[in-house]
Amino acid sequence: MCPRIMSVSRFADLPESPFARLATLIEGLAPGKPPIALSLGEPRHPFPAFIMEAIAANAADFGRYPPIIGTPAFRNAATGWLNRRFGLPEGWLDPENQLLPVNGTREALFNMAIVATPLAKAGKKPAILMPNPFYQCYAAAALAAGAEPVYVAATKENSFLPDFAALPEELLARTSMIYFCSPANPQGSVADLDYLREIIRLARHHDILLAMDECYADIYDRAAPPGALKAAFGLDGTADNVIVLHSLSKRSSLPGLRSGFCAGDRAFIAKFRSMRNIAAPQVPLPLLAASTLAWADDAHAADNRILYQHKIDMAERILGNRFGFYRPAGGFFLWLDVEDGEAATRRLWTEAGVKVLPGAYLARDDESVVGGNPGRAFIRVALVEAENVMEEALKRMAEVL
Ligand SMILES: Cc1ncc(COP(=O)(O)O)c(C=O)c1O
Repeated sequence: MCPRIMSVSRFADLPESPFARLATLIEGLAPGKPPIALSLGEPRHPFPAFIMEAIAANAADFGRYPPIIGTPAFRNAATGWLNRRFGLPEGWLDPENQLLPVNGTREALFNMAIVATPLAKAGKKPAILMPNPFYQCYAAAALAAGAEPVYVAATKENSFLPDFAALPEELLARTSMIYFCSPANPQGSVADLDYLREIIRLARHHDILLAMDECYADIYDRAAPPGALKAAFGLDGTADNVIVLHSLSKRSSLPGLRSGFCAGDRAFIAKFRSMRNIAAPQVPLPLLAASTLAWADDAHAADNRILYQHKIDMAERILGNRFGFYRPAGGFFLWLDVEDGEAATRRLWTEAGVKVLPGAYLARDDESVVGGNPGRAFIRVALVEAENVMEEALKRMAEVL
């Protein structure tokens, strides 16, 4: 590490990753039982066999640089899925000019802030709003873009739906972007169409880009969560000020494929495409061919969703109404209220061999919130393991907690 560079880094205020902090928290502590890791949101379900077949069939294309806009087949398949999944009218979203493949949504979430954020807005330093707790990439992106990250509490009291509209006018006027996630990681809350419409109205009023992180859209409990494109369409028939991000990492259990897309606001996609054409990672052509098949197929995603629903049923049976258990409306995390997330994480590791993530590591301190950090009382449990492993883990957790 070069201290001279680090001392001036714009990332100086960025804490270590939640997983590095977790490693430090349990460093030197032996697991009480054979370890089960539920800390990382990495799906362990099987992915469809057609993925490997498509990669093999197109392997010769590893010898070519992929175009930044991907292939027409990919863009059509992704658009087709958006239309089916969210009930958008055929032909509304233009796959040529309103959609781009991305190398996993994380890089796109990061890179888009740089493109969406001017050097100054309303004559001041720009701000980027995000929920608290939140996917940590958002804060890194805000800092990289030279913006002030502003963390807006998502607590039980507001059903984990932050009230962005209640922020001071001065702040909204200099806001360049809002990151929002539905279904939410970590709480599993889902924003309804009314909430989405309000946030889009707010974004348009203040010329803000809304980055809607919808990577858990196909993993839900009872009802399919609505999406921001549908909300935008319902307002005025345009996708202005809205970019949705979707991924095969969760939907198709393919986190290692690094394949997703972003879609929406035409003007932003044009700007993003120009920047990406110079600086961003392209998605390799054989992976795009496999991704095309994955977006065209809903059956494997439905099977995948059912596996998670079974595990939520199991968690409900085992945990009942203890630890603030509730069925997450979407996504695959339990967000359990254990009073002190760090202490519970340590105990679960040393007594049960179960590795979970303290909620505080996904959040920033906020004096306006009881306890000072909206994640402090919680642990996040990723329901990613096979059913028999999850059953063992949940039983051990219930015993120890
Ligand atoms: C909320 C959220 N957004 C984005 C991502 C990034 O997903 P990927 O880059 O695999 O598409 C994740 C991954 O865990 C996530 O939880």
